[in-house]
Amino acid sequence: MAKKSIYLDNSATTRVADEVVEAMLPYFTEEYGNPSSLHEFGRNAKAAIDNARMTIADSISANPEEIFFTSGGTESDNIAVFGVAKAFGKGRIITTKIEHPAIKNTVKELENEGFDVVRLDVDKEGFINLEQLEKAITDNTILVSIIHANNEIGTIQDIDKIGHLVKSKNIDAYFHVDAVQSYTKIPIDVDAAKVDLLSVASHKIHGPKGVGALYVREGTRLSTLQLGGSQEKNRRAGTENVPGIVGFSKAVEINMADFYKHTEKMTQLRDKLITNIECKIPDVILNGPKRDKRNPNNVNFSFKYVEGESILLHLDLEGIAVSTGSACSSNSLKPSHVLEAIGLPIDVSHGSIRFTLSRYTAEEEIDKVIEILPGIIEKLRTLSPLTQKSDVI
Ligand SMILES: Cc1ncc(COP(=O)(O)O)c(C=O)c1O
Repeated sequence: MAKKSIYLDNSATTRVADEVVEAMLPYFTEEYGNPSSLHEFGRNAKAAIDNARMTIADSISANPEEIFFTSGGTESDNIAVFGVAKAFGKGRIITTKIEHPAIKNTVKELENEGFDVVRLDVDKEGFINLEQLEKAITDNTILVSIIHANNEIGTIQDIDKIGHLVKSKNIDAYFHVDAVQSYTKIPIDVDAAKVDLLSVASHKIHGPKGVGALYVREGTRLSTLQLGGSQEKNRRAGTENVPGIVGFSKAVEINMADFYKHTEKMTQLRDKLITNIECKIPDVILNGPKRDKRNPNNVNFSFKYVEGESILLHLDLEGIAVSTGSACSSNSLKPSHVLEAIGLPIDVSHGSIRFTLSRYTAEEEIDKVIEILPGIIEKLRTLSPLTQKSDVI
């Protein structure tokens, strides 16, 4: 009999919610107009994206005119970073050592082009140091780009404090937040946190793939990267992905409707998994912080003396899907830059596994992992050339 799979890779992507699929369907076959067309089909499609804009704006306390639809988190990050850089032409960009490649690689490209880039250190739990940030903000700083909840280790940066600090040191420096992993899991208020730009993606929150949004505070200087039609007020040319945008908005609606209930449930299950792994398996290291400073859906452990890939494959054989790092880096043998930044030795970082929950994760699923994992680790450790004994040879 086929085993029922347990999906614990929700930071890579999520299952599309049934209500989301249902909301999208008419926009493929009935309301398929182009939002730029003037006839009824076009007007209905435009009304649908305008409604979606309102829903997304409400969820972060923004105005609908400040929401721009994109193809996902990567594009939102690219428009934010390259758009500001192109508008200014030169200056300092401050970021962290634990960004997702969508920011890490865009900033690297700008550094190659001559921008002055500062990458903030993080402590062993993944937090930036506010004093280091304060010292780094100069008069020529054009952008501070910080990941809200880290995609690998779940560390939540205090964007309220960061935003106030940025503006108190240089009112003209823009503050961009990559909120792809925190969106609808941690409350976000762009005004309270003095955020100028914020990236989100639909497929991380039970919406469809290929759609995201960028919040851009009114008045922000941002150059256009993609040239073409005048869609999205010239900020992002190209016919809008109407079914995707409708699905994204439905996913936001579902998540925001019972925000505290579902984040509390995820937090409880997350902590149950953390506590049990720590109790039942020796020689483990929890990467990232505990309790309320950790994204509600994230658990990341290093299991000493074993390879993460072996653990992943053994769990996969049991029908449990996890990740060895972030989805984008899990095909590479290079140690994760995030684990390196928190000071984890390379050999230990190779034994790291990320479990990411969703609002649909059931307690029995977590119990099953708790039941199976200790045996897998024990077996791998007996077979491993990396066991404790090899340390003393
Ligand atoms: C923090 C963060 N930023 C950006 C992205 C890129 O988002 P997308 O996959 O929608 O392009 C991801 C995806 O994992 C992410 O975790």
